[in-house]
Amino acid sequence: MDIDEIAAYCKRRGLVYPTSEIYGNYSGFYDYGPVGVEVYNNIKQLWWKTFVQSREDVVGIDGSIITHPKVWVASGHVESFHDPLTECRNCKLKWRADHVVEDSLHKPTDGLTKEQLSELIIKNKIKCPKCKGDLGEVKNFNQMFITNVGPMEGETAFLRPETAQSIFADYKSVMDSTRLKPPFGIAQIGKSFRNEISPRNFLFRLREFEQAEIEYFVKSNEKNKCVYFEDFKNLKVNVLSEEKQKQKVNDSEEMTVNMCLKRKVFNTEWHAYWTAIFYKWYLNIGINPKNLRIRQHVSEELSHYSAGTVDIEYNYPMGWKELQGIADRTTYDLKQHQEHSKQNLEYFDEETKKKELLYVAAEPSVGMDRLFLTLIFDCLVQEKERMVLKINPKLAAYKCAIFPLVNKEGLDTKARELFKALSKDFTCFYDDSGSIGRRYRRQDEIGTPYCITIDFDTIKDDTVTIRDRDSMKQDRVKISNLKNTIMNKLT
Ligand code: GAP
Repeated sequence: MDIDEIAAYCKRRGLVYPTSEIYGNYSGFYDYGPVGVEVYNNIKQLWWKTFVQSREDVVGIDGSIITHPKVWVASGHVESFHDPLTECRNCKLKWRADHVVEDSLHKPTDGLTKEQLSELIIKNKIKCPKCKGDLGEVKNFNQMFITNVGPMEGETAFLRPETAQSIFADYKSVMDSTRLKPPFGIAQIGKSFRNEISPRNFLFRLREFEQAEIEYFVKSNEKNKCVYFEDFKNLKVNVLSEEKQKQKVNDSEEMTVNMCLKRKVFNTEWHAYWTAIFYKWYLNIGINPKNLRIRQHVSEELSHYSAGTVDIEYNYPMGWKELQGIADRTTYDLKQHQEHSKQNLEYFDEETKKKELLYVAAEPSVGMDRLFLTLIFDCLVQEKERMVLKINPKLAAYKCAIFPLVNKEGLDTKARELFKALSKDFTCFYDDSGSIGRRYRRQDEIGTPYCITIDFDTIKDDTVTIRDRDSMKQDRVKISNLKNTIMNKLT
């Protein structure tokens, strides 16, 4: 299914709508509908449970979207958070220069400067994708949204373009209010905003989106002392190394995490571990391993703060693209904030009595909307007679749907009682209209793993049928055992 078909499916089934559509399209902004918001919240909750609540070394925060403007000066975003822009001299439409060049030459443009992009546009006579007019010189365009804080003109401030900086800006408060000792992580899920020149591919590139990020701090001399490395070193992963990309090879190879570390795909043991644990998590939540790979950034494309980055990429209909980045951010951010805020951000080691700025060995960062889209791509299957979203039951919007066979003769009353009872433990959907076959199909399309039908036998013996989404098999179960049966299936 291509991206437009996925967007149409999401709209039809109440997962995602273009925002305020009655007023026309507002590019780069979307709303989650009744089914989508449930799936989306389940993904976020599972992420938080796995990477924050189940770990003794990670704590969470929830920072404000607008921070002190100096945060963005210190972080380098005011200076260098740019995308290359080119304007059509004829129709005046603005384009992301690297995307236009990539689409036209079918070659990656990672790391090219605006001058190199301008040169490629001229040399290859690349024209405006809309009207075929001439494209202008490539300029830098800062992606941060600007707003005013306070009355009248107020003070210029920015909507945060990444959640990471709230973590660095709150770092001292977190350290002062907890007894964290390195290695430790600070995590956050929250909104980010980027004034993308050309938002595209549905939820893939948005202007308002949500990020889930962890900054993982270690002592500088312990970057290669990852206590969990043993558990992951033999994990096999698909990898596209910098070396292969420089040889113009685009196929990934299967390697163990340990082998990747030896070949310097990862910077340190901690960098390797954080990539591996997320890679494995994606497999655990059901993403097809064939659609996942780790791509090492080539040196020219590294962000200003990074000493090494790998992306976990997914094979979307529009090709292999970043799902998540894992950067080695060094001491860059703490150093910058220490300098600009004039606050001491060093960690004092009680044992050695030494002070040091802690090192961010890994920053795993994923867009929640992008992960949602990835799961839909990966799980939506068109079978011969039905479309079915084979999403992990834990992430499904509704765990069960409850159907009275007919809407009379006491079946509806019994079904409503059951809905009330089961809703205490699971998200349930009640549907009493249309044929049972149609009701099954509707639930298959939104990924409901179990459908429960109340029929005339229910009145006689207190049993119901429970139908499995994937096998379509039906079993008869006593109502008194239903909660446990569903619980067992889900776990
Ligand atoms: N703090 C590091 C950082 O922000 P990034 O690679 O720019 O790094 C991290 O973004 C992740 O955020 C990406 O891997 C992607 O999943 C998501 N993301 C970035 N820009 C996005 C956009 N315009 N729309 C949706 N998701 C986006």
